Amino acid sequence: MTATEFDPVRFKERQRDHWDAISSGWLSVADTFERGAAVVTARLVALGEVGPGDSVLDVGTGVGEPALTAAAAVGPTGRVLGVDLAPGMVDLARRRADGVPNAEFLVGDVESLALPRDGFDAVLARWSLMFVPDPVAAFRSIAGVLRPGGVLAASTWGPPESAPMLSLGFRVLAGRLRLPAPPPGEPGPFSMSDPAALHEPATAAGFADVSVVPVEVPFELESAVSYARFTKAITPLALRRLARERLGAEEPELWTDVAAAVAGHARPDGRIPLPSTALCLRASKPVG
Ligand SMILES: C[S@@+](CC[C@H](N)C(=O)[O-])C[C@H]1O[C@@H](n2cnc3c(N)ncnc32)[C@H](O)[C@@H]1O
Repeated sequence: MTATEFDPVRFKERQRDHWDAISSGWLSVADTFERGAAVVTARLVALGEVGPGDSVLDVGTGVGEPALTAAAAVGPTGRVLGVDLAPGMVDLARRRADGVPNAEFLVGDVESLALPRDGFDAVLARWSLMFVPDPVAAFRSIAGVLRPGGVLAASTWGPPESAPMLSLGFRVLAGRLRLPAPPPGEPGPFSMSDPAALHEPATAAGFADVSVVPVEVPFELESAVSYARFTKAITPLALRRLARERLGAEEPELWTDVAAAVAGHARPDGRIPLPSTALCLRASKPVG
């Protein structure tokens, strides 16, 4: 294997370590994020036709969404299982689900779900599928655990320029740290920003009635400083280490620059609207 060849096993180990390391960072900004993201959660629950008594799987649940919202929708006669690659995320999701009797969380890989066949009425995936090395394997694995007629509802991000909540801060980081562009085709936040990147693997995995629609996510920050805090909390620790090494005493200026990058978006009251585009997929498992 050459040094530049993509190694999916190594990639997934790095993913697990990365999400583990920033799990508490994600939790610290979860309220800020959910204020906008709740729109997508509601859309996924509706697209998945999640209702009382249903059995629902949330893949790549992070600190527990959309699993916790789905648990309320399925009620006491339903159940929700949240699965995530990163044990740190699963621990935090379990803690947030304390007192929610119908939600359970397990460590697992969406590409190889070790769960009963045909066991779920719906599978939800909010901003997780774009991180898998083999999307067709992930869609096949999901199809295996859905009952015939069951629905997958998933979201990814639109192109970077349509999703400033994520891309503005990372553009500043990439510039200040002189990061190389990610290799084409490598999984990442924007690797499924074209509807075809969802449509094609879903169809190849045997899903029917596949549709992808854009949904505007109404993110809004209290201030430019809170945007910098959000970006810092979700920045990979390896990048934060690199920032300390490369910028030394100038490192705090990096976060000032991140705040400055959104300051121009401020309304007269100082709040920063950063509406961002999600792509929402609906696909059903054929009956028979
Ligand atoms: C951006 S977070 C989204 C978390 C949550 N669904 C939300 O919307 O807040 C992506 C999550 O996908 C998880 N993930 C990445 N690759 C995965 C895989 N192969 N199997 C399961 N989860 C995975 C990560 O650990 C992380 O928690």
